[in-house]
Amino acid sequence: MKVTVLGAAGGIGQPLSLLLKLNTSIDVLSLYDIVNAHGVAADLSHIPTKSSVESYQPTSKTDTTQLQQALVGSDVVVIPAGIPRKPGMTRDDLFKINAGIVAGLVNAISIHSPKASVCIISNPVNSMVPLAAKILKQNGVFDPRKLFGVTTLDLQRFETFSAKLLGVSDPDLLKGRISVIGGHSGNTIVPLSHLSNNISTKFQQFVPEPKDLIHRVQFGGDEVVKAKEGRGSATLSMAAAAYRFIQTIIDPSTRHSGIVPESTFVSLRGIQGGDALADHLGVEFFAIPVQIGQNGQAERIVDPFELDFVSSDEKKLVAIAVKELKGNIEKGLNFKYDAK
Ligand code: NAD
Ligand code: LMR
Repeated sequence: MKVTVLGAAGGIGQPLSLLLKLNTSIDVLSLYDIVNAHGVAADLSHIPTKSSVESYQPTSKTDTTQLQQALVGSDVVVIPAGIPRKPGMTRDDLFKINAGIVAGLVNAISIHSPKASVCIISNPVNSMVPLAAKILKQNGVFDPRKLFGVTTLDLQRFETFSAKLLGVSDPDLLKGRISVIGGHSGNTIVPLSHLSNNISTKFQQFVPEPKDLIHRVQFGGDEVVKAKEGRGSATLSMAAAAYRFIQTIIDPSTRHSGIVPESTFVSLRGIQGGDALADHLGVEFFAIPVQIGQNGQAERIVDPFELDFVSSDEKKLVAIAVKELKGNIEKGLNFKYDAK
C-alpha cells in the first residue's frame, strides 16, 4: 500500500503525514511538496513503524520528475496542496490560485498513477472535484468511484457540537447516526439528524430549534480562520478528518457499522445509485454517504432521501445548497487548464 501526500509540508500535510506514518497498513508513505518535503520526511522517518518514508521536491520550476516519482505506484493520493483562507476571505476566493495547483497535480496523477484513489482536500472542494473530474476525463482515465472530495471535517464538527448539546459524553456514539450532505462551504453544508430514531428523538428533545447548531456547522471553518488571526485555517482537525476518511479507503476493518456510511463529495454518475440521485437533485456532484468497497472505491451511494432520512426542513436546506453548488460546479468545469 503506497499513499502519497501532495502538499505534505503544509499545515495539514504535516500532521496528516504523521497520522499516516503511524498506520500499519501503509508500506510506503510518499511525501511531495515544493518546499521542505525532505525535512518533513527526515523527521517522520525516525518513527519506528512499518512504512518507509520517501520524499520528493522539485529542484526547479520545470522539474517534473520528482512529482512523477512521488506518484508512480500510488494506491491512494491525497491533495492538501494549495493556499488557505485568511479572515474576510471565502473559500471561493482561493479558486484562482488553487485551481492552477490542483489541475497540475491531477494532470500528473492521470499520467503517473491513473488507477489511484484521489482524495481532494484543497479548497474550494465544491469546484476542485469537478475540475479534477474534467481533467481525468479529458485524459481518458476518469473513474468516478475513485475521486473523492474530503468533507469529513463538516461531519466531525456536527458530531462534536451535537454531542455537547445532546449530553452525549462520547461523540463516537454519534458516528453513522448523523450525517452531513451537500458540499463543503457555508450554505452548501447540510447536516442531517434523522438517520436513527433514537438520535432524532434526542435532537427533538435537546435541540428543538437547531438553527444555531446548523449555522455553526456550516460556518465552523470561519470560526477557526478568525481564531488563527491570519495564520491559516483548520489544519489539525482537518488532518484528523482526512485521516479518518483515508482509513476507510485503505483499511476495510475501520469502516464503522453505523446506520449509514460517511459522506464524501463525489461525481454521482458512474457510482451505483448515483444516476437516480443526480436526476433527483439536478446536480452531478454532491456530498453523500458512500459505501466503500474492498479496493477503496465508492461502491454504492446510500441515498438518505430514498431511505426517508431527510426531514422537510432539511429538504429546504438541500434546495438552497443545490442552487449554490450549481455555480461552484460550473466554475470548476469551466476552468481552462493548459498542460504545457
Ligand atoms: P498550507 O499553506 O499550510 O499548506 C499548503 C502546502 O501546499 C504548502 O506546504 C505548499 O508548499 C504546498 N504546495 C503549494 N503548491 C504546491 C504544488 N504545486 N505541489 C505541491 N505542494 C504545493 O495550507 P493548509 O492549511 O495545509 O491548507 C491547504 C488547503 O486545504 C487549503 O486550500 C485549505 O483551504 C484546504 N482545507 C480544506 C479543508 C477541507 O475540509 N476540505 C479543511 C481545511 C483546509
Ligand atoms: C474548513 O472548513 O475549516 C476548511 O474548509 C478551511 C476553511 O477555509 O474554512
